Amino acid sequence: MSDIVTVIAPVNIAVIKYWGKRDEKLILPLNDSVSATLDTSVMCAKTSVCARPDILENEIWLNGVHSSFCNQRLQNCLTEIKAIARNQKSVTDEFLSWNVRICSVNNFPTAAGLASSAAGYACLVAALAKLYKIQSDISKIARMGSGSACRSVYGGFVRWHAGVNPDGSDSIASQVADSSHWKEMRVLILVVADTKKHISSSKGMTCSVETSELLKYRVEHSVPKRVKDICEAIKDRNFSNFAEITMKDSNQFHAICLDTYPPCVYMTDVSHKIVEIVHKYNEINGDVKVAYTFDAGPNACLYLLEKDISDVLSLIRHMFPTSSNEFVKGLDAPETNKTDVLKDFP
Ligand code: ADP
Ligand code: DP6
Ligand code: CO
Repeated sequence: MSDIVTVIAPVNIAVIKYWGKRDEKLILPLNDSVSATLDTSVMCAKTSVCARPDILENEIWLNGVHSSFCNQRLQNCLTEIKAIARNQKSVTDEFLSWNVRICSVNNFPTAAGLASSAAGYACLVAALAKLYKIQSDISKIARMGSGSACRSVYGGFVRWHAGVNPDGSDSIASQVADSSHWKEMRVLILVVADTKKHISSSKGMTCSVETSELLKYRVEHSVPKRVKDICEAIKDRNFSNFAEITMKDSNQFHAICLDTYPPCVYMTDVSHKIVEIVHKYNEINGDVKVAYTFDAGPNACLYLLEKDISDVLSLIRHMFPTSSNEFVKGLDAPETNKTDVLKDFP
């Protein structure tokens, strides 16, 4: 009977979006993407796993609800980790024969465009890797659960290299800069709606690959230069360049969602209002002080520097007087997501 292994993992919010796969099974993207990993103080996934001989079949509980283990991505992650454990002989064959129970909770809205799949699969894979005592690049395994999850394995600013190899061996995430590099960077999350999106990210991007002309243009002509420029902006701590590229990329991503047939509409009137407010605010200040970015959902992620937080929060509360759902985040230190709690099995 095993200990329960508990791990927490952070979300990451892309500034250059991943949208479109070249391989659905291995989860290989069409383009590089760049994100910042947020600290786990307010938003994180927390996953506990254990293996026992008396668990009759593999089980997963997500946010307190028993979910089906038929999910192919879950199975792929578990199979991969067990194969590595078998290879490394890190646990006994008997241990490997036992079923697992996985319990995970997100302390923020799930499937609402706030990167729950990123935190969720990074957390799950980190917990399983610990349970089976494997030494391996867990980012690649997290990618098999959800593409964006490979970036949550590292702190600070992270780039996921699309790679070219058909087996995905070079489709890996790496750190562009750690969180101490740009200590003043903050992310303000505005929860416009905490409900589950109508079209999952996976489904939406598959449909975009099949139907959007604009997606092809983006992959070939927009992303390579944007990735290069935003990595430079991060290295130089050039906020206005960072912010402009971030907003343009979010807008292009949602343009592709609308160019998809039938269209994927993720942003709402409130999302668009936030876009308008940010541009007005930057214009009044004569400088780009805030950047918005929206994942596949209506919720806004604002990137800004610490010195501007109170001003921007006042503005948001003034424009949306009834709002209460906002989180202010710093960037995650590389070691934070490795925080884990090992407990004896009761
Ligand atoms: P999001 O924008 O929140 O990432 P997605 O559509 O990409 O939304 O993915 C949501 C799915 O990710 C959920 O339906 C679930 O299958 C999976 N997921 C979310 N959180 C977890 C978690 N903590 N553990 C395991 N899987 C999770
Ligand atoms: C808009 O990683 O959730 O958040 O790989 O199919 O699980 P799957 O998709 P997912 O897609 C994320 C899309 C995005 C942009 C991003 O995080 O880069
Ligand atoms: Co997701």
